[in-house]
Amino acid sequence: MSTMAAGATLSLLVLLLITSSSSSGAASSPGGSCSVPPDGGSTLRIIHAFGPCSPLRPAAPLPSWADFLSACGSPACSQVPAPSCSPANSCSFNMSYGGSSLLAGLVQDSLSLAADVVPSYTFGCLQRVTGSSAPPQGLLGLGRGPLSFLSQTQNLYGGTFSYCLPSFKSLNFSGTLRLGPKGQPQRIKTTPLLANPHRPSLYYVNMTGVRVGRRVLPIPPSALAFDPATGAGTVVDAGTMFTRLAPPAYAALRDEFRRRVRAPLAPPLGGFDTCYNVSIAPAPAVTFLFDGAAVTLPEDNVLIHSTAGTITCLAMAAAPDGLNAVLNVIANMQQQNHRVLFDVPNARVGFAREMCT
Ligand SMILES: *[C@@H]1O[C@H](CO)[C@@H](O)[C@H](O)[C@H]1NC(C)=O
Ligand SMILES: *[C@@H]1O[C@H](CO)[C@@H](O)[C@H](O)[C@H]1NC(C)=O
Ligand SMILES: *[C@@H]1O[C@H](CO)[C@@H](O)[C@H](O)[C@H]1NC(C)=O
Ligand SMILES: *[C@@H]1O[C@H](CO)[C@@H](O)[C@H](O)[C@H]1NC(C)=O
Repeated sequence: MSTMAAGATLSLLVLLLITSSSSSGAASSPGGSCSVPPDGGSTLRIIHAFGPCSPLRPAAPLPSWADFLSACGSPACSQVPAPSCSPANSCSFNMSYGGSSLLAGLVQDSLSLAADVVPSYTFGCLQRVTGSSAPPQGLLGLGRGPLSFLSQTQNLYGGTFSYCLPSFKSLNFSGTLRLGPKGQPQRIKTTPLLANPHRPSLYYVNMTGVRVGRRVLPIPPSALAFDPATGAGTVVDAGTMFTRLAPPAYAALRDEFRRRVRAPLAPPLGGFDTCYNVSIAPAPAVTFLFDGAAVTLPEDNVLIHSTAGTITCLAMAAAPDGLNAVLNVIANMQQQNHRVLFDVPNARVGFAREMCT
């Protein structure tokens, strides 16, 4: 399928490069690299290449593969958010991604990944994009929803995958995605994967505490508790850039971090409220305590440095008010240079340090 965009411009800072590696089950597109950031939260794959689906060609008609269009009233169409029917009886829908709003037509085509073929793969073909959150390479839906890439490749990959995200400072984009149970790390710390009917496409885990240095923070249990009725709890999501914690959990982390650093605070920067204009090395270690697995983050996953100057910030924040205030998100920046394993059949999520740079 040509829309896999070999050679698409790499304009995002963090990309997941799908590299070819025959024995591990990793995927590649024939023309070289196919780069798409993983997005644990969304349930659809959105193709966004320099092909017929490109919003870079505004007002382009849907591709001439009309036969492949998913008709209104089809089972797939009933699973997209707020579907509507265009005159040609094709199924289109609006969805938001980050700050972007996407208008896409639901289409089907066969998808090739290395030697694997997924016939009749259903995905969103982008027609219009507003905002700049959606990357031009498209998105691969690695969530658990019915139309996600994982659900559609269930018989090929069995709902198991892992990735290693490169640092967003990396020039090499050498991250990897491994699909299927073969070649996954055997020695890896794991924590149970929880299912939350309130948000079925997300990967919930049981975070029981956070440590700064050796101190377990005094976080009220309600800020971390998993609650299938409300959607509260902790998710692992590579589609979110920076970790955010329920306000009481973040406040405890921030206070202890500041207490240990003991340097004057610089003004907040870009949504981060714990910033310094002096070197704070070595920074206090931050450890996420998951049920059965303690993951201590290296400094690169904790601190973000301003590109222009000398400012260093704690790269986490409090969850925004509203619906998501009870949701803790272990995000992309905090996962970088780790292999993160999602093993749905065995209901576990694993973390292991791995330098994919
Ligand atoms: C998508 O949203 C735009 C703008 O809000 C609206 O004009 C359009 O009709 C919507 N399309 C669909 C398919 O829902
Ligand atoms: C990029 O990859 C090359 C060759 O593998 C290596 O020599 C170089 O150090 C890497 N650069 C970064 C920034 O990781
Ligand atoms: C950070 O410190 C440098 C050198 O002391 C100074 O020039 C700069 O203005 C400071 N930046 C901020 C944002 O305070
Ligand atoms: C989370 O882990 C704690 C500590 O092991 C346990 O008491 C609690 O029941 C777990 N919660 C869920 C939803 O698994």
